Amino acid sequence: MSRVLMLLPFLLLFVSGVATARPLTLIYSGNLDGELEPCGCSEAGNLGGLKRRATLIDQLRRETPHMALISAGGLLRVEGAGDRLKSEYILSGFRLLEYDAVGVQWGDLAFGPEFILGAGLPWVASNWQGDEMVKSRRISRGGVRIAFFSWLDPEASPLRQMQGEQRLVDDDVARLNKALHRARADGALVILATQLPAAQAARQLGLGDVDILIQRAAYEEYGEPFMQDDTLVLTPGSRGMRLGRLDLEVADGRVQSWKHAVLPMPDSIADAEKMKDWYDNYNAAVKAAYLKRVELRKQREQGQSPYVGEEVCQACHQAEHETWFASDHAMAYDDLEAVGKSFDPECIQCHVVGFDKPGGFVDMSITGHLLGVQCESCHGAGRSHVEAAGKTALPNSGWKREDICAQCHTQPHSPGFDFDTYWPKIRH
Ligand code: HEC
Ligand code: HEC
Ligand code: HEC
Ligand code: HEC
Repeated sequence: MSRVLMLLPFLLLFVSGVATARPLTLIYSGNLDGELEPCGCSEAGNLGGLKRRATLIDQLRRETPHMALISAGGLLRVEGAGDRLKSEYILSGFRLLEYDAVGVQWGDLAFGPEFILGAGLPWVASNWQGDEMVKSRRISRGGVRIAFFSWLDPEASPLRQMQGEQRLVDDDVARLNKALHRARADGALVILATQLPAAQAARQLGLGDVDILIQRAAYEEYGEPFMQDDTLVLTPGSRGMRLGRLDLEVADGRVQSWKHAVLPMPDSIADAEKMKDWYDNYNAAVKAAYLKRVELRKQREQGQSPYVGEEVCQACHQAEHETWFASDHAMAYDDLEAVGKSFDPECIQCHVVGFDKPGGFVDMSITGHLLGVQCESCHGAGRSHVEAAGKTALPNSGWKREDICAQCHTQPHSPGFDFDTYWPKIRH
């Protein structure tokens, strides 16, 4: 299903006939949404996955002389701590596809910027505050020069309400427009990717210097391209099920004509040989993580976890429990959830009991009794103390009080910590 549409306004511009039109094939995609592979549970949903994508892209590269491969980002979808492993593999797998440019979406930043920066992908985040992210990328194919930009809507930042968060992006639209204008004046074909819908992008950012806009992805299906004033708007589909193909004629950096097609990735597309090691390693890592989880669960069900949880301590230490319950420590997990970080192992460790220790916190569903900073975060695992009805000392009873606090009240996380002012607030 493809059609040709001549862009009359552009034709009129070039009626003098100076510019030679050059062909360019743009292979574009939108959100992958963490779908490293389709589950294959139903035939209709069995589309996409990185192994097939690699095969299709390699085939297109062989058959298409002037091809550029771009993504509007949205590779990751993070809903639980277990998604970290898959996310790592999505990034390393995507790298094997050799994209020319990849936009950044908020979802990609769920584990922080360092997590994706280390992956070696050609990220673009045009309104990024620091120097870590590249603000635009130039791609040159068959005499056509492309300038790719990507805008992260500051209003949509999930970290916005987090206290003390240094702003990752700015809302300097004027600076973006200047960069777009410079690229276009320079004869480049200007492509901008954003999660804003086209009409809002036109209002908020202005599209006067944008030749092609990749707007927010639709659910699964790709939309037909359309014109928003003089900008050609592409609507990729989500969940990485298909690729979009735009065959362009470009003269002096302007689109002369275009033809659009959507390329689904059903299971008739073979898995790419070059992805084999990557995929085997992924499965091995998933299995290892699963077995570790099972082991933790078994220990807990057999009552072997050395941690018992605050409710057990309450039975004999009612007064201490009351004081603790009223303290911020009891709320430490809820506060992490409030900023959407209760799945990030780099945060969880100080906001729960015994994270990454045998029998300690795994996640909300398995170890819901170990949320927050509890008695055992400071006193150590309490099972043997409980079983001996208080006659054995707790593991940390010989520790200096300051050292107990120093496990978590470190310089970066509690710069104002001073034992003599903090202790009275939680004394019990
Ligand atoms: C069955 C009752 C019981 C339970 C349950 C219990 N304790 Fe105790 N705990 C005691 C008794 C009794 C003492 C006093 C022991 C002594 O003074 O010799 C004590 C003393 C302590 C002390 C001071 C001595 C030391 O070892 O540092 C701490 C701290 C303590 N308990 C923490 C906890 C924590 C944490 C829990 C939950 C994991 C807990 N207790 C559960 C009975 C209990
Ligand atoms: C090394 C331990 C440690 C790590 C890791 C850690 N925190 Fe904390 N967090 C603390 C401590 C300690 C405090 C209390 C600081 C204070 O009041 O002095 C705190 C406080 C907080 C608060 C409460 C702030 C308030 O105003 O009440 C939030 C929210 C929070 N952390 C989120 C996070 C997030 C998100 C991460 C991961 C990016 C994280 N923490 C990682 C130790 C840690
Ligand atoms: C933030 C760390 C922290 C948490 C959380 C904590 N404690 Fe303590 N607790 C301490 C420290 C430090 C001392 C030692 C105070 C001292 O040496 O004077 C202590 C002392 C105690 C004592 C001995 C009191 C005494 O008079 O000697 C008991 C019993 C106790 N805690 C029980 C609990 C119980 C039960 C909980 C959970 C409901 C709890 N603690 C939570 C840090 C903590
Ligand atoms: C297991 C990690 C951990 C340990 C150990 C720990 N804390 Fe905390 N503490 C936190 C976290 C996380 C918060 C933030 C809780 C929140 O507001 O969500 C916090 C908050 C506090 C606060 C409230 C901060 C405020 O400004 O009101 C005080 C006071 C405090 N801790 C004192 C102590 C003291 C004293 C010790 C040592 C005896 C200690 N903590 C040990 C993790 C820890």
